[in-house]
This record gives sequence, C-alpha cells and structure tokens, in this order.
Amino acid sequence: MYKKVLTLDEFTIQQLRLFPHATGELSALLRDIGLAAKRIYAEVSRAGIADILGATGDTNIQGEEVQQLDLFANNQLIAVLRHGMSCAGIASEEMEDMVAFDDAVNNNSKYVVMFDPLDGSSNIDINIPTGTIFGIYRRISSPGAPCILTDFLQPGYRQVAAGYVIYGPSAMLVYATRRGVNGFTLDPAIGEFCLSHPNMVCPENGSTYSINQGYFFQYTSAVQQYLAFCQQGAKKSVGYSQRYVGSMVADVHRTLLKGGIFLYPATAAKPKGKLRLMYECNPLAFILTVAGGKATNGAASILHLLPASLHEVTPVYMGSANMVSALQGFFSASG
Ligand code: AHG
Ligand code: MN
Ligand code: MN
Ligand code: MN
Repeated sequence: MYKKVLTLDEFTIQQLRLFPHATGELSALLRDIGLAAKRIYAEVSRAGIADILGATGDTNIQGEEVQQLDLFANNQLIAVLRHGMSCAGIASEEMEDMVAFDDAVNNNSKYVVMFDPLDGSSNIDINIPTGTIFGIYRRISSPGAPCILTDFLQPGYRQVAAGYVIYGPSAMLVYATRRGVNGFTLDPAIGEFCLSHPNMVCPENGSTYSINQGYFFQYTSAVQQYLAFCQQGAKKSVGYSQRYVGSMVADVHRTLLKGGIFLYPATAAKPKGKLRLMYECNPLAFILTVAGGKATNGAASILHLLPASLHEVTPVYMGSANMVSALQGFFSASG
C-alpha cells in the first residue's frame, strides 16, 4: 500500500488551512527557499563533475576564501527570493551589506531573510555534508525599503521561522515555526521535499559531544573541565563519544535527531568565537529551542542576544537541554 507522504507544498497548504486569515506569504517564502535548495543540491551533488569545485579567489567579510559553491548557493537564494513576492531583502554570509529588493512588490513584503548559503564549505572538495541555514524575520519598518537596524538586527527570539537544508546522502530541509519542527527529505523520483520527520524533538539527553578538540588548549578552563567530564564519563559508564564533522549543519542535525551537545567556544585566536550569530547560531538555536533543546553563549540564551552588526560572531553551545544545563554548571562553578 503506497503511503501518502505530504510534499512541502502540500504541507504548507495544509498549515494555511489552519489559519484562514494567513496571507500565505510565509508559505510562499518556504517554497522559494525549497526551490533554491533543490538547485543548490543538484550542483553540490555533481560538484566533482561540474567545474565548480575550488575557490573563487575572493575573500568574504570574515576573511574566508569564498568557494565557487558558496557563490553559486548565494546567487540561487537571492534569485528566488528576489523573484518571489514574500521577501523585502536579505543578508548573507557572503555579502558585506544587506541586499534590498527594491521593487514595489517586494518593498511591501512582510519578511526579510538572513542566510548562510553554504555552511561547511571547507568540506565541499572532500564530499562531506554541507548545508544552507536561514532565519526569517517579520519587518518592523514597512512598507518601503528594508532597514538594517530595525528589520535585520533583531534578536533571534523574534524569528518567525528558521530552517536549514543538509546536503548529505539525501537532501533534507528542516523547518521550524513556533508551532513545531518538521523535516522534509527530497524524493529524487518526484523532485519534491516530502514530510519524512514530522514534529521533531531534541532528546533531553544524548551520548555525543561535538567540538574541535584541536583547540583544546585555547579553551577556557571551564570548557576544558567539561570536556574532561565528557571523556571521563566512559569510566562512570556515562559513555560520551566525540563526533565532529566540521559542518555546523551536520553536527547540529545529528544533535537534533539523536541528542548531544555542539560546542564552538571562544578561542585565543577567536576571542569572540567563530560562528555567526545572525545566520548560523540564531536559526539553529531557534530550531533546537522549539524542539526542546537549549542554546547559550555560555552566559545568556543565544536567542536573546541583541545584535550590533550583521556578521558578528558568538561562542555557542547548543543541544540536549540536560547536557547544556550540565555545561552551564561548569561555567557558573568557574565564576
Ligand atoms: P562556513 O562554511 O559557512 O564558513 O561555516 C564553517 C563553520 C561551521 O560550519 C563549522 O562548524 C565550523 O566552521 C568549523 O570550524 P573549524 O574548522 O574551526 O572547526
Ligand atoms: Mn564561510
Ligand atoms: Mn557556516
Ligand atoms: Mn557559509
């Protein structure tokens, strides 16, 4: 018996029926992002064949070497969001300033989108999962051109929705609103994202911790003590394993599905952290929080940090609520 699985479009329409007064703009925005994701996945999954591996020769505002696929993904997202009618403008890891879609229709759109077009791009050439991360905010100033200060620099708890796409053995889009987190796997037979993981919940405990051990001696003593606790756990049959892909999307996706904790602390080289608040930490913190997990910068909830600039970075610890709470115990003990 063929099991009826809702496509992303059918799911968004089903959700719309629950809210007859909804304009459908947010649903259309999600469908636009889904379309861009399919185009990105098509290119990522044939990167070794298409001449699209390697760097562009440019560096972005973070001083990172921009990969050709970073740019391809960035352009796909801008194209569908500009063409659609639900987004007034975007901010991207790969663009120094925001991009306002300055036409009458888009200028009156309710939403702005911030995204990391391709996360984990250092892994592209070695065929390790990468992803796209996005956060959607309702504009404060509208109609008219969007404004960075009021429309983009909003704290993460004001996200209307957030999501990511992981380009792995399969492409999966995980999307959260306050009502819940749902996962859609791309079915290549019909070219549609299909609801494969309804109502995703982050287990309150897990058995993996995810961190770049290579920076151990650059971490604070509280972080070092927590890592020792995870490693000694094995003796007390707590049994933590270390898993680190080096693509935040992949490490957080595993954490959402199986439980665990992902840590990217400040280091001596990056005293404010490496990961970007607006288009990496906030969207993923929103998703994990809706799913019952926690996300902190060590002192405060990620979602309550007040952003001062588009590309600011933050230390980040997110995952199973009980594991993040245990880590916070090490921070408070260290004063
Ligand atoms: P991006 O590819 O978008 O620049 O992000 C890379 C980030 C993130 O995906 C990952 O968690 C982190 O860089 C890995 O950093 P290290 O190589 O320093 O561990
Ligand atoms: Mn980058
Ligand atoms: Mn990234
Ligand atoms: Mn990126």
